[in-house]
Amino acid sequence: MPDTARSRAATLPHLRRGRLAKGDPIPLPLTMAAIFHAPGDATGFDQYGRFSNPTWDAVEHMLAHLEGAPCVTFPSGMAAISAVFFGLLKAGDRILLPSDGYHTTRALAERFLKPFGVAYDLRPTSTFLDGGFDGYRLAFVETPANPGLDLCDIAAVAEAVHKAGAILAVDNTTMTPFGQRPLDLGADIVVAADTKAPNGHSDVLFGHVASRNADIIAAVSGWRETSGSIPGPFEAWLVHRGLETLEVRFDRMCASAEVIARRLKDHQAVSGLRFPGLESDPSHNLACAQMERFGFLISFVLASEDKAEDFINNCALMQAATSFGGVHTSAERRAKRGDAVPLGFVRLSVGCEPVEELWQAIEASLDGVSG
Ligand SMILES: Cc1ncc(COP(=O)(O)O)c(C=O)c1O
Repeated sequence: MPDTARSRAATLPHLRRGRLAKGDPIPLPLTMAAIFHAPGDATGFDQYGRFSNPTWDAVEHMLAHLEGAPCVTFPSGMAAISAVFFGLLKAGDRILLPSDGYHTTRALAERFLKPFGVAYDLRPTSTFLDGGFDGYRLAFVETPANPGLDLCDIAAVAEAVHKAGAILAVDNTTMTPFGQRPLDLGADIVVAADTKAPNGHSDVLFGHVASRNADIIAAVSGWRETSGSIPGPFEAWLVHRGLETLEVRFDRMCASAEVIARRLKDHQAVSGLRFPGLESDPSHNLACAQMERFGFLISFVLASEDKAEDFINNCALMQAATSFGGVHTSAERRAKRGDAVPLGFVRLSVGCEPVEELWQAIEASLDGVSG
C-alpha cells in the first residue's frame, strides 16, 4: 500500500494486530501503574511510571504512524512545546517565534526562557521568511496560525533555516497529521496539542513531539523523564481512543468548514473572513500546495464586541468556549484572550454536526446581529 493519508487512516485501527496473542483484548488495555515487577537487571523493560508505560507506547505508536516519525507524548500541548525549548536550548541561544501564533508560546519565552538567557524575537507568520535566520538556533512556526489563520511556506522556511544552521519546529495543532505533515516538508520537529482534534472530545489535555532526528527525540524524552512532565495513562488511553476516529471526524469538520466559509463570505454581517480554502484568501495557493485539507477553523470579524458575543452565545449549535477541534462546534471572541485582533473577531471551530442544520443555526444567529 502506498504511504498516503488514506492508507495511514486505513491501517491506524489495526496497528496493535501484529502484537496480539490469542485471547488478548482487541481494544487497548489501560495500564495504571507507577511501579512494575523489576527483579534483577534494570534494563530493557518497564520499571517505573515516570520512565515508560504500555499505554503511552500504544498512543505513541499511533502518532508515529500518522507523523511518519518517532513521537514522544506529553500531558498537554504546552508541555510538548516546553520539552522542545527546555530539552534543546541553552543560555546564549536566540529563537524566532510567530508574533501571531498561540499566545502562551510567547508567554513561555518571555516569562521562562528569557530569565534563563534564551533570547527570542517575533515575526509575523505571513512574512516569516523575510529577514532570514542568521543567528538563530531554532525557528518555530504555526501554520495556519491561531487565531488569524495566516500561513507560511514550511518547505521554503525549512530550507532557509537549515542554510542558517538552525532547526525548524512547526506547531501543527490547527491541522493534525491528516491535514499537513511538516516533517515531509523539511521541518525538523512537529509539536501539537492533541487536546484539540486528535482527542476530539474536549475531555483531555495532551500533546506530542515528533521528529526524524534521533538526537532531538532523545533530548525531549530525557526532558520528560527528568522533569516529570509525563502524560497520565488514562489520558493516553483516551487519546488512543480519540485517534481511532480522527480521520472521519477531521474529514467531516473540514468538509463542513468549506461549506460554511463560502456562505459566511456572502453574509452582510461578516467582514475580514479568513479560511485558507477560499480562492479569495491570500494564503489559498500556498494552502493548496502544502496542506492536504483546509482545516476546520474559520475566523471573521463582526461589527462590535457585543455583536460577536451575542452571535456566539445565541447560536443554538455552538458552544462558547476557548480551545477548538472538538466534536461540538465552538467559538470564541479572541480579543478577550489578549490576541491582537479586533474586538469583534471570532474564531470558529467547525464540529461534527450535520452541515445544513449547523449552517441554519449559524445563519439565524448572524441574522440576529445584522444591521
Ligand atoms: C496552536 C496551539 N498550540 C499549542 C496549544 C497548547 O495546547 P494545550 O492547551 O494542550 O497546552 C494550543 C492551545 O490552544 C494551540 O492553539
